[in-house]
Amino acid sequence: MLEHDVVIVGGGLAGCRAALEIKRLNPETSVALIAKTHPIRSHSVAAQGGIAAALKNVDPEDSWEAHAFDTVKGSDYLADQDAVEILTKEAADVIIDLEHLGVLFSRLEDGRIAQRAFGGHSHNRTCYAADKTGHAILHELVNNLRHNGVIIYDEWYVMRLVLEDGEAKGLVMYRIEDGALEIVRAKAVMFATGGYGRVYNTTSNDYACTGDGLAMAAIAGIPLEDMEFVQFHPTGLYPVGVLISEAVRGEGAYLINSDGKRFMEDYAPSRMELAPRDITSRAITRELRAGRGVNLDGSAGGPFIYLDLRHLGREKIMSRIPFCWEEAHRLLGIDAVNEPMPVRPTIHYCMGGIPVNTDGRVRASAESLTEGFFSAGECSCVSVHGGNRLGSNSLLECVVYGRRTGRTIAEYVKNRKLPSFDAQSYLTEAQEQMKQLLNQAGTLRINQVRQEFQDCMTEYCGVFRSQEVMEAGLLKLQEIKAKYEQIYLDDKHPAWNTELIEALELRSIMVVGEMILTSALNRQESRGSHAREDFSDRDDERFLQHTLAYYSPAGIELNYMPVVINRFEPKERKY
Ligand code: FUM
Repeated sequence: MLEHDVVIVGGGLAGCRAALEIKRLNPETSVALIAKTHPIRSHSVAAQGGIAAALKNVDPEDSWEAHAFDTVKGSDYLADQDAVEILTKEAADVIIDLEHLGVLFSRLEDGRIAQRAFGGHSHNRTCYAADKTGHAILHELVNNLRHNGVIIYDEWYVMRLVLEDGEAKGLVMYRIEDGALEIVRAKAVMFATGGYGRVYNTTSNDYACTGDGLAMAAIAGIPLEDMEFVQFHPTGLYPVGVLISEAVRGEGAYLINSDGKRFMEDYAPSRMELAPRDITSRAITRELRAGRGVNLDGSAGGPFIYLDLRHLGREKIMSRIPFCWEEAHRLLGIDAVNEPMPVRPTIHYCMGGIPVNTDGRVRASAESLTEGFFSAGECSCVSVHGGNRLGSNSLLECVVYGRRTGRTIAEYVKNRKLPSFDAQSYLTEAQEQMKQLLNQAGTLRINQVRQEFQDCMTEYCGVFRSQEVMEAGLLKLQEIKAKYEQIYLDDKHPAWNTELIEALELRSIMVVGEMILTSALNRQESRGSHAREDFSDRDDERFLQHTLAYYSPAGIELNYMPVVINRFEPKERKY
């Protein structure tokens, strides 16, 4: 059995920032970071457009209060305002700290950090490194982990959270290289496992974003908060769905329908292309439904609209958003200096997740906390994004709440002993689970079942939802879930068995998908990214509250938790 003071699952921004903080505060603490890929391949590396903070380098009128208001309004008033206050107040400090770590932000002429416009933000406050911001930050953080003595277990797949009597005690994990199973015991366990884009069939997310941490927490009995709030990014490159950053619109690009019209004037006239993502994604979907999408031959009625950058000019495109240009060129052969890009909404982010308080401690229920268990980043729900996240607030959440959670853990483990549990029984159970999967005599390929599940989620729980459609979706989901028992694996060898990992990931996808659909069915209102065709208004009286969904194989139970409103009274949300 392995032992560490702290184990952090997830090598992205939140996990790395927490690990660094613990080692800074107490270098003697044994901190292990476990990731199913190498940390610099975590999905944070793909973040493009930037990280928000009211530095006032471009816009002296900006303030943390304005940032807080934009975030709360963007969330459709579901964000917890105490958490948003912390996020926006600590933003400037974490950016300066990143700069001191060595992050190469883009610069203004006078040498200060550059800031650009982003959707739903009333001031130019998004700091960036061209359109490779996640890459710039994650590489420096990982470098700093190594210098600070964090132990990295890369390419280990965590299969199970050991949670007994309301206390997280450790993990069961599996080394991808040779199939070795290990039990880890720790005084504190942190999940920073990222999102679940792969629950859907078209996403900007990496293949690794299968919601493993969310599923493991749910299976262990932890509720998941606000899972119905799924963010569609308006500009996924058609047909692949990869991200074309909002920075492209922040730098001035237009969204154009088949009539050649900048249609956002009909949906958000004061913000146009820089309306929040929920509004922009719905606007695009409405245009497509109305037959004003474009086909590949340029005719009307097709599946995408255009993102037009041509007026920006080569110099601006190549210096500010070179990666987006490169993506369209590499994947579709489009030169965006001279041609518009085909785009449509793509699954991008999960607003919900493992419920935590503002110190990163995981909730066991609306009223109680789980001992020894912490979480930050996209897999957690603190909740700073409520019903809809503003672009460039997620990297910020990772570093602000990664740092805060690291501080909490550093203090928490000081006077704690390593917990005890029956490691052998967990090991035997994991061995049985592996054996069962490897020897399952089914007839279905993993890919076939996964595709069916992803298609079902996309069709029945997309941008627009209704009771009838979601109920049909839930029935279909149950049928597809039953097929898990019928999958078979060709590869029976323990070393580098990617089929085995895919089988474990499919279990995560299925748990998370069911949590999303069930939570969505029960929220009978439209708020943020959750747009009901049968309940088209926001209903503060019944639903100005967070959903808490409890998983069990027999079914999902729902409860609700109050929203913290201490600064901005909910108002109609108009742009
Ligand atoms: O569009 C983007 O660059 C994405 C940014 C974000 O999700 O924060």
